Amino acid sequence: MVQHTATSVVTIERYIIEQERLHPEATGELSGILYDVALAAKMIASKVRRAGLADILGSADAENVQGEIQQKLDVFANETLIRAMDHGGRLCAMASEEEPGIIQIPDNFRCGKYVLLFDPLDGSSNIDVNVPVGTIFSVMRKITRGTRGEMEDMLQPGRRQVAAGYIIYGSSTMLVYTTGQGAHGFTLDPSIGEFLLSHPDIRIPAVGRYLSVNDSYEQFWEEPVKALMRRYRGLDGERKPLNVRYVGSLVADIHRNLLGGGVFAYPANQKSPKGKLRLLYEANPLSFIVEQAGGAATNGTNRILDIYPTDLHQRTPLYIGGVDEVEQATAMLGGALSNVGA
Ligand code: AHG
Ligand code: MN
Ligand code: MN
Repeated sequence: MVQHTATSVVTIERYIIEQERLHPEATGELSGILYDVALAAKMIASKVRRAGLADILGSADAENVQGEIQQKLDVFANETLIRAMDHGGRLCAMASEEEPGIIQIPDNFRCGKYVLLFDPLDGSSNIDVNVPVGTIFSVMRKITRGTRGEMEDMLQPGRRQVAAGYIIYGSSTMLVYTTGQGAHGFTLDPSIGEFLLSHPDIRIPAVGRYLSVNDSYEQFWEEPVKALMRRYRGLDGERKPLNVRYVGSLVADIHRNLLGGGVFAYPANQKSPKGKLRLLYEANPLSFIVEQAGGAATNGTNRILDIYPTDLHQRTPLYIGGVDEVEQATAMLGGALSNVGA
């Protein structure tokens, strides 16, 4: 593959094509999906950047399937992704955090051989206070017969993903994706409306710097989880203490740890015995990316990407980041979480 540095002006479209050329059997459908996601990301970014002006702040006065109050930007991002993706002829169905069931392709559009799952706006509670939010997506091949997508096409283990990515609407807008050949980061240049290669072949630092966890739930954690967090903080003398950084937007926390090194933990707890984060469109895509960057991800007992889903919106405990930190989680939680989250 052509080696690029961050200084050469490489658009995401050019990079996707060069990656596609590594696969002689590629039909270009997956490339088309990635282009369309990048377009939707630019449209969402443009709204996020003006959130305070475009009557896009605040609640949409509606509840989603998760029982969470939808923010106007949740609804806008969801509709933008569906409209950008439903007519390209590459998907046979979609699934969204904001929709109860699978989203069929309209009858007047052709169906393709992939499914797309997404969290259209991650970190919704942070929108009104101008803290970074994100979008997360996952692509898998259709495995059922017939032209239309079915639930079975969605309920595949994360190791079957053919592509995954996220967009972070932060101090700059970045798109990070993988198709299984490493993880690559692109920064949106708003002056030309292009995502340009800025972080070729991202590698998570082997020495962790950060611990991201919401320890207001400490009273609800099981003892091994409490011991693990003491370990991460260096309180048991077994390791150098990690610096605690927690934004409360999964994409922002993961992105910082991916580039800076460290671990993100959202343990199961007595209030959320399966954890809070959703397997199919949060944990799986982010785990694919982090593994491609040399990291790891577990629910405490199993590799995230090996979990066989049974429900579209199922939740999972999540420990994701540098191999050392994730291995410490598996070592200390091996038996503790066998009764939740698997
Ligand atoms: P979403 O906005 O898509 O529902 O995701 C919110 C998630 C995730 O972004 C973040 O890591 C987590 O909620 C924060 O949860 P707590 O506020 O319980 O820490
Ligand atoms: Mn989310
Ligand atoms: Mn969301």
